[in-house]
Amino acid sequence: MSEHTARIGLETGPYDTEVLQASVGNQGIDVRKLRPQTGYVTFDPGFANTAIAKSSITYIDGAAGQLLHRGYGIEDIAMNVSFLEVSYLLLYGKLPNVAELDAWNADISSHTMLNEEMRSFFDAFPRRAHPMAVLASATYAISTFYDVYRRPTRKQEIDAGARTLLAKMPTIAAWAYKKSIGEPYVYPNNDYSYVENFLHMMFSRPTEDLPIDPVIVKALNVLLILHADHEMNCSTATVRSVGSSRANMFASVAAGMGALWGPLHGGANQAVIEQLQAIHDDPDATIQSTIERAKDKNDEFRLMGFGHRVYTNYDPRAKVLAAFAQDVLDRMAMSDPLLDIARELEAAALADDYFVERKLFPNVDFYSGIIFRALGFPQRMFTVLFAIGRLPGWIAHWMEMNNDPDTRIMRPRQLYVGETARDYVPLDQR
Ligand code: ACO
Repeated sequence: MSEHTARIGLETGPYDTEVLQASVGNQGIDVRKLRPQTGYVTFDPGFANTAIAKSSITYIDGAAGQLLHRGYGIEDIAMNVSFLEVSYLLLYGKLPNVAELDAWNADISSHTMLNEEMRSFFDAFPRRAHPMAVLASATYAISTFYDVYRRPTRKQEIDAGARTLLAKMPTIAAWAYKKSIGEPYVYPNNDYSYVENFLHMMFSRPTEDLPIDPVIVKALNVLLILHADHEMNCSTATVRSVGSSRANMFASVAAGMGALWGPLHGGANQAVIEQLQAIHDDPDATIQSTIERAKDKNDEFRLMGFGHRVYTNYDPRAKVLAAFAQDVLDRMAMSDPLLDIARELEAAALADDYFVERKLFPNVDFYSGIIFRALGFPQRMFTVLFAIGRLPGWIAHWMEMNNDPDTRIMRPRQLYVGETARDYVPLDQR
């Protein structure tokens, strides 16, 4: 056998197949013909060992704690470029030059307004509605203003869909927030940059414009970049799964938001702060009792913001954020007791055999909420901020999937363990 082939020994004989080469990282055993040739399927709940596509967008080395977007290290791009530049990089595979960036910024800026009929859409929700529910619903809703029911095939139409989503998502998010606090919606002002505009729509009022604080703008820019893509995570795999049925980009992204909302994924940033606040507020809760609860297999409680499917080392995004949290608080002349609790929890966990043996480290959500809080965002908006950040990643994956000749409708197999065929029993004889 050559180094590029693999053999799986089965009762019925060997299955010989190709080993697919990656440019770096895990190589793939091609099992596409396994079932038709042998009658066996692979069993892999949660797809922990399954590559669902070839991709050239993002690379993670989980053991080394490395994250690259189109080859660029996250530490380099997070601090040096704008969120829209990273979005361009993810979508089109290269960093834009000056002319391309100017055109891209202008293109996004000129599409930030929502159709005025969307006002009544926001009005229809109850004030207590979670903004993630409003965000996903609005993503579907804005698609009704465009002809996106067919999967577009022309690059121009796909680019227009991407631009529409990127341009309007901060407006949708800010309006969902304004609705929840009973304040008038604030329209976008295209004199502002992407991040400034979002802050303006979130925190300005018709009666007074928010002074834009460059510290907050910089911090939010970094946070959005740190969330921009993470290869085949749960929400991105959902976007690809929905898109594989040839559903349009809007429907696929809205479905991804549903996946992101869960507390084991993007919902963890809200859950972390709730957990830290609970420790802070409960005089009987200690760092050690929290660690013990997280280790107890009879308790569903987990240390939120800890652990990751891919990282067996410190998540590089959490590394940036751990340092950045203090920096932001210092620059804003603030302190937050939850940051001290988070640090103590991290130190206790990293010194505990349970977490060491399982290679559980802080993930991106562990420190992000503390910064979002310092920037003035309410907890219920945290996962929405994650969604705005992850949007270019979802779109880039949808585009890649759409262009990939290997794409087939996502339709896994199962190991059926239920009843085999039995005779129907009429109701009066049961
Ligand atoms: N607290 C306590 N124990 C944990 C934690 C945690 N946060 N995370 C994992 N473990 C334990 C599991 O109980 C399991 O132990 P076992 O081997 O004795 O059964 C072992 O570590 C492996 O964990 P799995 O759940 O099998 O790992 P998986 O890859 O399926 O899940 C996940 C990863 C969902 C992130 C998990 O670590 C978790 O629930 N973390 C808390 C929620 C969280 O922070 N989510 C955000 C992730 S990052 C993101 O999506 C942006």
